[in-house]
Amino acid sequence: MYFHAVTSFLALAAPIAAQQIYDIWSTQWDRSTLFTYTNLSPYGELNFTSSSKSNSATISVDDTTLYQDMVGFGATLTDSSAKLLSELKSSNSDNYWSILNYLFDPTDGADAAGFSYIRVPIGASDFSDTAYSLDDTSGDTSLDDFSMDAAPSYLYDTLTDIAGINQYLKIHIVPWSPPGWMKDSGSLLGGNFLSDYTDTYASYLLKTLQGYQSMGFSIWGIGIQNEPENSDSTYPTCEISASQEAAIGTQLRSLMDDNGFSSTLIIGYEHNWNDAGGYPITLMEDAPDAFSGASFHCYSGSVSDQQTFESAYPDKAVYFTECTGEYGSDWWSDIKWYMDNIFIGAPNYWAQTGAMWNLALDGDGQPILSGSDSCGTPCRPVVTINSNGTYSYNQEFYSIAQAQKAILPKDVGGPVGQRISSTVSGDLDWALLVTAYVTNRSSASDWPRYSLVVLNWDDSASTTWNPQPVTATIEFRGNSVAYTFPVGVTTLWWYGSPN
Ligand SMILES: *[C@@H]1O[C@H](CO)[C@@H](O)[C@H](O)[C@H]1NC(C)=O
Ligand SMILES: *[C@@H]1O[C@H](CO)[C@@H](O)[C@H](O)[C@H]1NC(C)=O
Ligand SMILES: *[C@@H]1O[C@H](CO)[C@@H](O)[C@H](O)[C@H]1NC(C)=O
Repeated sequence: MYFHAVTSFLALAAPIAAQQIYDIWSTQWDRSTLFTYTNLSPYGELNFTSSSKSNSATISVDDTTLYQDMVGFGATLTDSSAKLLSELKSSNSDNYWSILNYLFDPTDGADAAGFSYIRVPIGASDFSDTAYSLDDTSGDTSLDDFSMDAAPSYLYDTLTDIAGINQYLKIHIVPWSPPGWMKDSGSLLGGNFLSDYTDTYASYLLKTLQGYQSMGFSIWGIGIQNEPENSDSTYPTCEISASQEAAIGTQLRSLMDDNGFSSTLIIGYEHNWNDAGGYPITLMEDAPDAFSGASFHCYSGSVSDQQTFESAYPDKAVYFTECTGEYGSDWWSDIKWYMDNIFIGAPNYWAQTGAMWNLALDGDGQPILSGSDSCGTPCRPVVTINSNGTYSYNQEFYSIAQAQKAILPKDVGGPVGQRISSTVSGDLDWALLVTAYVTNRSSASDWPRYSLVVLNWDDSASTTWNPQPVTATIEFRGNSVAYTFPVGVTTLWWYGSPN
C-alpha cells in the first residue's frame, strides 16, 4: 500500500506511472501454496511495457467492456454449521475467531479471504437437529405463533459474529419448506405447496425479514423456496410451481415495499442449471417486477445453461448459490471443477455470486438431520471442524478464497469488483481459464484495481500426468507483461490510471 501511494504521487509529477503487478495469491495442484500471498514489491514488480511479448498464451483484458457488478462468494450457514462453530467458540474461542477472521475479514491487506456472501436457511434444512419452521401451529393463518426463536440461538449468534467481521456481507435467507400446514403433505418433509396459503406464506416471509431486522441484521435478499422442483420425504423440501412462486413473489414484493424493505431483493428459482430455460423464465414472465433474478445450483445441467436465462432476461440478475463437495474425492480434480464451473465459470456466465453448501461440518459430514437421505456420500464443508477443536480448510475454501480476493473493495466502504472482458488466445489458450474484474475507488482520482483469477489446468491428467506452468502475456491498454502461471489457481492484480 505504501508503494502504491508512492506510485500515485509520481503520477502527479509525471504524466504516466507504470502499471505493475506485485500482489499475487496462489493455490497449486500439489498444495505447495494454499491461498499463499507473494508480494513482489519493492524489487520484483512485473512492469507492463509497450514492447510486445510473444508467448504461447495471451490474456487480453479490456476494461472498456464492463459486465455485471459482483456481490460476493461464500457458502451457507446451516444450523449444523452454526452449531459446530458455536461449540468451538465455547471450547476454543481462539480457533473460532481464527476461522471466522480467515474466512470473512475483507480488510485490504489482511491475510484472509473476505467471503462477502452468506446464505442462511429460514427454518430447518437437512442440516438441522430437528425439522421445524418458524410457525408450526397448524392452521395459524394469522401467524400469531410465528417466532424467530424456533431457530436455535446459535444460528443468530454465529451470524452476528460473522456480520461483525465483514461490513460488506450480503445475507441471503431462503426456506427449505413452508410450514407443513401450508402443504398437501401436512409435513415439512416433502409435499406440495397449497395455493390457498399464498398470502399467508408471503406474510410469513415478511415476518422473517422483520424478525431479522429487529435483531439488527440487514438482509440483502430473500428466496421463496430452496429447490422448488424437489420433494423428498426424508428432509424439509417442497414443490412449489413457477406460477405459485410467481404469485407468492408478487404478494411478497408488495408487502416488502409497504414495510420498508423495498431495497431487499427477492431471488427466484434457486434450483439446478438444467431447467434454466423453464422454471425461472416462467417465473419472470408471470411476475416481471417481483424478482431481481434467478439463482442456480450445480446438481444437474451445466453452467452454460445460465446463458439461456441471461439471453431471455438480460436485465435480470443471475446468481450461483449452491454446490456441495463430498468426502473422498480428489483435491486437485475438485479445484479444477469448482473453478471451471463456479468460481470462474459462473461469473463468466453472468453470476453475481458463487457459493458452496455447508460452511462447516465435521469429518464425517455431521451433524445431519436424522433420517435425511441427502448426502449419501457424506457432504464435505468449506471448513472441517473436529470435536476436539482442530479444523482444516478444504478445497472448497481455496476455490472460494481465490475468487473472493479478486473482488474485495480496495477502499473501506468502497465499491466491490465488476466483471470486465478477458479473452485467452494462442496455442495454449485451452490451458488457462480466466475471469477479470475492475474494482473502482472511492475517489475518482485514485487508480482502479484490475484483477485476474486464472486456472492453469495444463496437467495432462487424463494421460501421462505432466503439470506444466504456462507463461502468458497479459495485455492491457496496449501494454503487456509476462507471468508464468503454475498449475493451480492464481489471483493477481494491478492498478491502472482512471479512464
Ligand atoms: C519495474 O519498474 C520499476 C521502476 O518503476 C523498477 O524499479 C523495477 O526494477 C522494475 N521491475 C522489474 C522486474 O524489472
Ligand atoms: C482431532 O480429531 C481429528 C478427527 O478425528 C483427528 O484426525 C486429529 O488427530 C485429532 N487431533 C488431536 C490433537 O487430538
Ligand atoms: C466503475 O467505474 C466505471 C467507470 O467510471 C463505471 O462505468 C462503472 O459503472 C463503475 N462500476 C462500479 C461497480 O462502481
